[in-house]
Amino acid sequence: MSILKDKVVVVGAGLMGTGIAHGFAHAGFTTVLVDSQAAATAKALAAVARILDDGVRLGKVEALAAEAAKARLSAQSDLGHAAEGAALLVETVTENLAVKQAVLSAAAPRMQAGALIATNTSALSVTEIATSVPQPERVVGMHFFNPVHKMKLVELVRGLATSDEAVARARAYSDALGKTSIVVNEAPGLTTSRMSAMAGNEAMCMLQEGVATAEDIDTALRMGFNHPMGPLELGDLTGWDTRLSVLRYLHAMLGEKFRPCPLIIKMVAAGRLGRKTGAGVYRYDEKGQRIPGSGLKASAL
Ligand SMILES: NC(=O)c1ccc[n+]([C@@H]2O[C@H](COP(=O)([O-])OP(=O)(O)OC[C@H]3O[C@@H](n4cnc5c(N)ncnc54)[C@H](O)[C@@H]3O)[C@@H](O)[C@H]2O)c1
Repeated sequence: MSILKDKVVVVGAGLMGTGIAHGFAHAGFTTVLVDSQAAATAKALAAVARILDDGVRLGKVEALAAEAAKARLSAQSDLGHAAEGAALLVETVTENLAVKQAVLSAAAPRMQAGALIATNTSALSVTEIATSVPQPERVVGMHFFNPVHKMKLVELVRGLATSDEAVARARAYSDALGKTSIVVNEAPGLTTSRMSAMAGNEAMCMLQEGVATAEDIDTALRMGFNHPMGPLELGDLTGWDTRLSVLRYLHAMLGEKFRPCPLIIKMVAAGRLGRKTGAGVYRYDEKGQRIPGSGLKASAL
């Protein structure tokens, strides 16, 4: 039987839940979006409709397909009721172990026997999250990227108890969404956050040492390696406070090579967090446009 017949429940209707619910509904799954805040699900349904309507306007989605996707997606506030008979649950609530475990333990008994449970956690342990259900072998990480409808990758994360079958099923769902999946054994920062933290940290150390200007370091990775963004502009987008907390975690877990560059600590202390505060490595005008030539100068550090 086609997996498209499976009922999918997405728990957490925030930034990521919105994109994940859109993905499943658009791919053909009957999808129920659950959030403890009614306002969040209302906002998410409107955002999904907007993504689909934009797709139609741009000629990327057929009008009928967009309407069918909207009809396949519904919202619920009662998790137990929503989980009834579901074959897949994707948990994407707030990044907090206790909150995630409470969601899983409430939903698991109401789902189909042997249903798959996926967590979209960025940094928590899948192994630890899975201890909240009687069959931890059916819990797997499905780490999506923002914005979900544009980003192709899903990191499938294997916790200590995750079965091969659970990984294979998660891969089949990911394929059905048109995503490319990779399998990662649970580890701090998985592959993506670990690599990105390392590159961003090294770029900041080079800036601090005066090896090259901020603009030239970013140009090096964009033009030399075809990266869509340089590591310093990416850090400005992510926020250096977020970057610093990831680096501190990786430093604690993986050792010296992740020691945060002092310049990042200095910038966070100064409130130069990136685009969100109007200044990071670069400065931004009131419209959020980068001011040319505004990169931090080594002489000013
Ligand atoms: N933001 C990103 O770029 C990104 C990328 C990959 C993974 N993640 C992970 O995805 C998860 C969600 O992140 P987000 O950015 O969408 O967060 P968010 O704050 O936008 O959304 C979280 C939602 O969960 C809801 N929620 C909290 N407790 C709940 C409960 N008990 N039951 C039902 N709903 C509940 C909140 O009301 C909120 O709407 C986190 O684990 C995060 O680490 C985030």
